[in-house]
Formats: sequence, C-alpha cells, structure tokens
Amino acid sequence: MSPGPGVPLLGDLPALLIKGPLALIRDRYTSLGSVFTVRLFHLKLTFLVGPDVSSHFYQGLDSEISQDEVSQFTIPTFGPGVAFDVDYATRREQFRFFGDAMKPVKLRTYAQLMVREVESHFARWGQSGTVNLKQELEHVVTLITSRCLLGAAVREKMFGEVGTLLRELNDGMRLVTILLPHLPIPAHRRRDAARARLGEIFAEIVRSRKNRSDGGRADDDDCHDHDMLQCLIDSRYKDGRGTTETEVVGMFVSALFAGQHNSSSAATWAGARLLTHAKHLRAAVDEQARVAARHGGRVDYDALLEMDTLHRCVKETLRLHPPALMLLRHARRSFAVRTGDGREYEVPEGHAVASPLVIHNRLPHVYEEPDKYDPDRFGPRRAEDRAGGALAYMSFGAGRHLCVGEAFAYMQIKVIWSHLLRNFELELVSPFPQTDWNVVMPGPKGKVMVSYKRRQVPTTTA
Ligand code: HEM
Repeated sequence: MSPGPGVPLLGDLPALLIKGPLALIRDRYTSLGSVFTVRLFHLKLTFLVGPDVSSHFYQGLDSEISQDEVSQFTIPTFGPGVAFDVDYATRREQFRFFGDAMKPVKLRTYAQLMVREVESHFARWGQSGTVNLKQELEHVVTLITSRCLLGAAVREKMFGEVGTLLRELNDGMRLVTILLPHLPIPAHRRRDAARARLGEIFAEIVRSRKNRSDGGRADDDDCHDHDMLQCLIDSRYKDGRGTTETEVVGMFVSALFAGQHNSSSAATWAGARLLTHAKHLRAAVDEQARVAARHGGRVDYDALLEMDTLHRCVKETLRLHPPALMLLRHARRSFAVRTGDGREYEVPEGHAVASPLVIHNRLPHVYEEPDKYDPDRFGPRRAEDRAGGALAYMSFGAGRHLCVGEAFAYMQIKVIWSHLLRNFELELVSPFPQTDWNVVMPGPKGKVMVSYKRRQVPTTTA
C-alpha cells in the first residue's frame, strides 16, 4: 500500500505557505498517522514518524537510502571537495577524520581549553547587569570552537570576522534553500560571499601551518598537537593520500558550521529552560557544589563527566529543541515499513524521506508528558529514552550517520553552564523564546534577555 492517501492535486505548497512547516507536518501526522507523503512541486516527501517505522531510515545502507540527493543544497555552504560534493567513500573517510579529532584523549585537552575560554569571557561581566544571552553564548561558543579547532594565535586574529561570517552562512540555509539552493535571494548572496571569505581566511591559515610543519618552528601558543586543524592537515586517506588545502578548508568550515550554530542554540535553549524551571535549576546548582567539592574546585574533563544532572538538563533541552525540523534521505530503492499497530506501507523508490525530529522526540508512547521539560525522565529510574529503544531519541541522529561531535558538543555546553551556575544568579527577563522555523537549523528567535548578579561566594572555590 502506498503512503498518504488524500494528497491534494495541487500539492501541499499552499498549506505549507499558510500554516508553516511545523503545523503542516503535525496536521498530517494527526490525520494520516506515522507514514504520510507531502508534495512540493515535483518532490514527493514521505514522512516516517517514530521508532517503529524509522529503522531503515537510520540504519539502511546508503546504496538503498542515501543522503546525497537531498543534501546537494549544502554544497554552497560547505564548499567544494567535501561532504556532499564528494562521493560516499571519500565523505566517510572525511567524517572519520572528524571522529579522530574528537576522541576522548583529544576531548580531555579540549575541556581545559574550553574552561579557560569560558572563564576569561565571563570575567568581563560586571557585578550585575542584563545581557542578550543568545548573543553572549553565540560569542562564547565561537571562541571555544575556534580555540579548540584552530589554535589560540589564529583565533585571536580573526575571531570577530569569522563569527559574523558563520552567522551569514547559517542565515543562508533557509527552507527554500533545500529546493532551490541557488535562488538569487539576498540571503544566498550573503552566504556565497561569506563562504568565499571564510575560504580565503582558512586557506591562508592552512598554508602557514603547512609551511611551518615543513620546517618552521611552531608558535608555542598555537599548540598544534591539540587542535582539530592540525588533525585534519595530518589526516591520510586509506590509499595513503594526504588531505588537500581545499579539503581541509571545506572540512573546517563544515565542522565550525555544525559545531558553532547547533551548540550555541542548544546552550541558549538550555539556559532558557533552566531559568524557567526553578526545581531543575536548583538541582543543577546543587550538583555543581557537590562536584566542585569532590574535585577541589577544579572543573576538568573528569569533573564534567560527573555532572549527570546538568547533562540530563541539556539532553532534555535538545529533545524539545532538536537541531533541525527534520532529517532527510532519498529512497534509492523502495522499502516497506510496518507501524506499531501492524499497518504496512511501501515507500516508493525516488521519494525523498523525512524523519521529523520535532515530532519524533515528543511521542507520548515513548515519553511521559512529552511536552513537559523534565530532565529526570533520563535518570536511571525512568530512562525513558532507553526504554523506547535505540531510535527513541534523535537529536544527534542514530545508526549510520550518528553525529560525531556529540561528546564535544555536550562538553562545551556543560563547561558554559557549569561556569554560569557556579558564578552567577540569573533570571530570564524576556518571554520564553519562540523558534525560528524559517531556517534549516532552527534556533531561538529574537533576543533572550537575562539579568545576572555575580555570586559573592562562587559555588566552587576555583
Ligand atoms: C549540539 C550540537 C550538535 C547537534 C545537535 C548535532 C546533531 C547532528 C545530527 C542530528 C546528525 C545526523 C544527521 C543525519 O542523520 O542526517 C549529525 C551528524 C553529524 N554531525 Fe553533528 N551535531 C552537533 C554538533 C556537532 C559538532 C560539534 C560536530 C563537529 C565536527 C558535528 C559533526 C557532525 C558530522 C560530521 C555528522 C555526520 C555524521 C555522518 O553522516 O556519519 N556535529 N549531527
């Protein structure tokens, strides 16, 4: 049986324009169930909602259900020679390079760098004041990401400009971009200019690194061994070939883009959620005191791993505010899915296929009171995600394309919130933020204003 009966002749474009993407998907899910098709121009997009029908989506072979056809729109952002501009085998190797640069041994070093960046950034705050938390965290995440990925000396030189250029890249990845990546709209023009400038900046850095590796002496402060750029420069494909300048630049832009925007949005949402839930805020602050006492006031990799309460707060935040409305694939071969109540559907070859994270993460048969912010659901007693199976929690994807930056992202968000909770009393003074659904990677809309007062005695003695 084919999915989604009752699709209007003219397609779903009018409904999409009137209701917006989220309401359209929710409506179709409510009326048609966990498998349904939406039509946009020539595109037939079949949605698969929930763990029961998602195993092929996440675990199927790329030769059967692939990312290539539906990810071409990212090429102007990530640039040539990387990600979806290259064949599958090359891409897998490039993602392996990222994975190698994010191994626990590296994370241990990154944790130290992150703590230093965060401490020096928030040292600039006064005794009390009001800030746009979204802007502050965007800034501090860019600092951390650049520091860990690029090295100190470089990040000092180009930090401000890179932050602005990354914002333009994200703003240039709109929902319309998925269908028409080269449509001549101002956001796409700004994206292209930003990508070109980032290319110039990073190419110069790669060249100077390579020159120094070829004989020059490394600048101490640049601590090459510890940043991702050096890992990418030193990486080798299985056939022994080294990475080219274009590839390193492209991988680097991709990593900054993936890491910077997702993490700063998640850090802002985490704050907005904590500051509007006194019980969980209290629990997170208390945990900081306990962990700090056990570690002599020091926050390092081991201390961060012990911050379970904070970890669950971030995880719950990402369940409610996933990084994308949906993940996409292309069905290279037709495949069958069976819903929890035993209905079978065939998804035809040629369809685009979507996993709408925003609904998937809030299914009432997986999560108790799914719209409620309740980090305890991930505690050992309830473990709702584990009870729901391997595909219950999707904010970092799953299966073949599971995010390689998950541990890095948690670490940087925890470093930031560990510091803020220990050192400041905070209050959200603007309304709880809405979500900007017009971009592919939605974040909090508008300003997120927070007032702060420095604690006289920080929760740690650091
Ligand atoms: C809060 C932060 C982050 C979130 C929520 C996030 C989320 C995700 C999701 C949902 C996917 C799966 C995409 C799919 O299946 O189509 C993914 C894949 C990926 N992420 Fe992340 N990510 C984050 C941070 C990072 C960072 C810091 C990096 C660093 C390089 C990174 C690199 C990647 C890569 C390379 C993939 C592709 C993996 C593959 O296809 O094998 N991510 N991420």
